[in-house]
Amino acid sequence: MEMQENVSLKSHNSFGIDVNASLWVEVTTREELIEVLKDKRVRAQPSMILGGGSNVLFTRDFDGVVIKMNILGKEVLEEDEHMVLVNVGAGENWHELVLYSLDQGWGGLENLSLIPGTVGAAPMQNIGAYGVEVRQVFDHLTAVHRETGRTEIFDNEACKFGYRESVFKNKYKDHFVITHVAFRLSKKDHELDISYGAISQVLSGKGIIQPTIQDVSDAVISIRQSKLPDPDEIGNAGSFFKNPTVDKIDFEGLKAEFSTIPGYELPGDRVKVPAGWLIEQAGWKGVIKGNIGVHKNQALVLVNYGNGQGEDLKALALEIQDSVAKKFGIILTPEVNIV
Ligand code: EPU
Repeated sequence: MEMQENVSLKSHNSFGIDVNASLWVEVTTREELIEVLKDKRVRAQPSMILGGGSNVLFTRDFDGVVIKMNILGKEVLEEDEHMVLVNVGAGENWHELVLYSLDQGWGGLENLSLIPGTVGAAPMQNIGAYGVEVRQVFDHLTAVHRETGRTEIFDNEACKFGYRESVFKNKYKDHFVITHVAFRLSKKDHELDISYGAISQVLSGKGIIQPTIQDVSDAVISIRQSKLPDPDEIGNAGSFFKNPTVDKIDFEGLKAEFSTIPGYELPGDRVKVPAGWLIEQAGWKGVIKGNIGVHKNQALVLVNYGNGQGEDLKALALEIQDSVAKKFGIILTPEVNIV
């Protein structure tokens, strides 16, 4: 185990914010992680786990230990002619796992193509896109308790998944480090979800009537590439805010005033409103402020055009929250972790 002092995090966060961590250590096995968690220097100061750094906004130097999750590997735990249960190291790149599963002919991850980040972060915030959430293929995960070093298994129910939520963002926030995630994927008779309008449009545009998992993945990739900036080119962390939900009755009121407001009905008389629409209507889409701004194709994505400061992005996010609250009476909650 090698600890480094004053390490730049610029290449370790997709916003490309240039801050330093006072201490940096990489872990490649569960045993190494347990050893790090016991270390005196680590216990004496704040610590954070970093996966792909694609859902974090650093606003200042991190005065503590950054533990970089680098546990790799894929292992088939169980399989029959219909399905496979594959256990994957938390440090594996998410999209590489999706491509690997497609190569194997395994279905279930295709709608989640091209999401930045690591496997360990996927259940943490129940990543989702184009009608599918990771909870649908999630079987269980292995995690190490940060205080006791004990290893625990969490099944689907124990994770308490919700929209961009899990027990690891709530009750157990900062209690556990996820080391492996097991997914249950189909080997045949794949259940495709092409309900999301843009996917069916791309498929029918290509004349595909009976899509394969590869076709769905290709469609998702082309939609994402047309709307979302590539973090390797323009710093960003995907959607900056969650899509808010409002009571149906309040939604009716909003609809009376803003006739084009989109809304998706949820159980319990709630309606989900696209934050991207609210931000665009509040006049923010494509706004540039020095080195940072709001993306021109997707108002939900804040961007760093280079050398932007985390504090400035945070201030921009606050301004956006403020103006959306004033115009619509809706409070936007960040999806990105602000550190
Ligand atoms: N919209 C606008 N203006 C915009 C952006 C969106 O009016 O600038 C409206 C449109 O009405 C559009 C609707 O918002 O039909 C939905 O937009 P989009 O399909 O782009 O999806 P989203 O709700 O903005 C969510 C996820 C994305 C995920 C997409 C596709 C959240 C916070 N974001 O975005 O996830 O890729 O759906 O399923 O739920 C992420 O989490 O980082 C992320 C990119």
